[in-house]
Amino acid sequence: MELQAVLTAPVPVGCVPMTVDDDRLRSRWEALASEIDAHNRRYYIEARPIISDRAYDALFQELQSLEAAEPSLRSPDSPTQRVGGLPVDSLTRFTHPTPMLSLQNSYDEQDIRDFDERVKRQLELEPDHSVRYLVEPKLDGMAMELIYAEGVLEVGVTRGDGLVGENVTANIRTVRNLPLRFSPASSDVAAGQTPKKSGAQGSLFGAPPSVSEPSDASRIVPARVAIRGEVVMPQDGFQKLNARRLEQGLEPYVNARNSTAGTVRNLDSRIASAAPLRFYAHSAGLCEGMSFQRHSDFLQFAGSVGFQVPEGIAACEGIDEVLTALSTIEDRRSSYPYDIDGAVVKVDDHKLQDRLGFVSRSPRWAMAYKYAAEQATTRLVAIDVQVGRTGVLTPVARLEPVFVGGVMVSNATLHNRDELDRKDIRAGDMVVVQRAGDVIPQVVRSLPEKRSGQEVAFVFPEACPECGASVVELADEVALRCANEVDCPAQIRARVAHFASRKALDIEGLGVKLVAQLVDEGLVRSIGGLYLLDQQREALVALERMAETSVDNLLAGIDTSRSAPIHRLLFGLGIRFVGETVSKRLCAHFGTWSALSSASQEELEEADEVGPIVAASLRSWFADERNQELVKTMRAGGVQFPDEARRMDLPEHPFLGKSVVVTGTLESMGRSEAKAAIEARGGKSPGSVSKKTDYLVAGESAGSKLEKARKFGVDVLTELEFIELLG
Ligand code: IVH
Repeated sequence: MELQAVLTAPVPVGCVPMTVDDDRLRSRWEALASEIDAHNRRYYIEARPIISDRAYDALFQELQSLEAAEPSLRSPDSPTQRVGGLPVDSLTRFTHPTPMLSLQNSYDEQDIRDFDERVKRQLELEPDHSVRYLVEPKLDGMAMELIYAEGVLEVGVTRGDGLVGENVTANIRTVRNLPLRFSPASSDVAAGQTPKKSGAQGSLFGAPPSVSEPSDASRIVPARVAIRGEVVMPQDGFQKLNARRLEQGLEPYVNARNSTAGTVRNLDSRIASAAPLRFYAHSAGLCEGMSFQRHSDFLQFAGSVGFQVPEGIAACEGIDEVLTALSTIEDRRSSYPYDIDGAVVKVDDHKLQDRLGFVSRSPRWAMAYKYAAEQATTRLVAIDVQVGRTGVLTPVARLEPVFVGGVMVSNATLHNRDELDRKDIRAGDMVVVQRAGDVIPQVVRSLPEKRSGQEVAFVFPEACPECGASVVELADEVALRCANEVDCPAQIRARVAHFASRKALDIEGLGVKLVAQLVDEGLVRSIGGLYLLDQQREALVALERMAETSVDNLLAGIDTSRSAPIHRLLFGLGIRFVGETVSKRLCAHFGTWSALSSASQEELEEADEVGPIVAASLRSWFADERNQELVKTMRAGGVQFPDEARRMDLPEHPFLGKSVVVTGTLESMGRSEAKAAIEARGGKSPGSVSKKTDYLVAGESAGSKLEKARKFGVDVLTELEFIELLG
């Protein structure tokens, strides 16, 4: 082939590429890129590939070598750009062209009927008028805005606080089922056939689109358009990814949504490229150079230029059809390849949407309908007791595996002894299990009517099942605890695993399995022991599934953690009531380890979000000699416990360190709730306006404070703007 000759001909170093072949190269590149786009679409969206993987790889390799020979061909919308590039240091912020708002929730039929009545009242329609609605599945993933300029993907932005998100374009480019540039349906491109509509979308996409001008939507490329939707990780891909993480000694993700968020926000786009992420379009943001009469027209347009839209969208005339569509989607819930947590009802006509407008941070023309947690029935085979980080004994149900809420569940929590007694759950019982979103699967109730008489009531152990120490019951607590805080291997394992976990010290390569090995082999007896592992190299290499490189990686990960930010260290120590946010607040307030560790109860309480209980817990932790010993060991092992003040990496909320006064009546929350929300974001909310006030939130009938704020030139926020800033 001529082209091969071009490619294989040596390109002299430092020479300008041959112009004679430029056009040929470019047109071959165009043809290849379009063909690969079309095959991607057939494979990822339509699930009906027409070529073998091998043939696809050959096309892809040809494109790669073309770009290697002529790098100027390698545009950001090239199919080769889906493989990820070099890691970046941080994600940058990006302001949404128009704010990304959220939806009001509803939970039952009456809520939906009320919604319909409100819509008709506001539109001054007769009560018996039927409004046309669309009902769509509500995908439980990560909201995303994709901005296309002249049909080419320019930016991918997370929702963030609704006004400003993070620029995750490098990661988003790797998502296989979204177009890097608008492309017509693959059947058009590859084989010259008429595009086929997917059956699932028949009711909606049968009708021709009604765009303002010109009439053929699929041929128009808007100057700039923001396509909004959800990035999800389908369940099968999520399970495979987690299996791989476990093999690599990494902690598995709790659920598909967390896994999606972790991947989309990863600084290394090669991680995103290797993950099975998918994007589903569900709404339009900014739209320049084109407009749609109906939401269904927008969806049809999105489908026609290469986006996948959620399956099972129904067009409904009137609220009764809406209710039927809601239950149809609910019935099909488990057959969706990705998690859905409800459905969304939207007024289809854009003119009506405009007339309805917004209230607070949500549109009046749409409503989310949340489904109840999914339940299933299975047999409880046995009840085990697990010992946690603080010694709490938690009964856990071992179940005959059952598919619920999109995953196979074989363990579920039974919470505590009281709960177990109250529900009268016995080994051998048939039980109802439920799972909702990221909540740990739970046993809801037993089904005593199905008992055979062989079931065994559970007797809570009097000794710790891990170390045999006595079990104590603390006053005012439901939980039972193992009294052996220092030596109980289960507690040590849980403490070390927490310390190494992502939100704490994030020690690369130190997952739950390896922690268990280290503790069980006696190589680590406390968190401090991690910092003495350098001296145990040989013993580490001898561990099962470990080798020189994995030991190097582990020790390097531990070494990095020696200079971790102080709030991660504080959180990692697992002090009761000191979670991630409180740790950040404490460290932002005290700045240094010595100031924090020597603070009195009163001084501690001065920090935001620190009340008497948290302060007392900190005091008793610092006063405990065993903890002082632990800090000493860690220091000796090289951990820095920084004593010079350094900036905390607190999330940069616009209210951080700002004075925000609230006045007037807010529609969506009380005044004290608003103040608490400001304080929780690191701001202060005094009662009066002064020159030092940064923002005034002016609710309904704001009076003299508003005047004063205007006089001082203070930024005045409406309730909607305030809520958007809260995020
Ligand atoms: S429409 C004005 N449609 O649900 C908001 N949202 O609180 C318009 N979501 O994070 C959003 N599936 O990303 C819409 N079919 C769907 C959706 C959907 C999931 C998410 C959305 C947002 C949240 C709304």
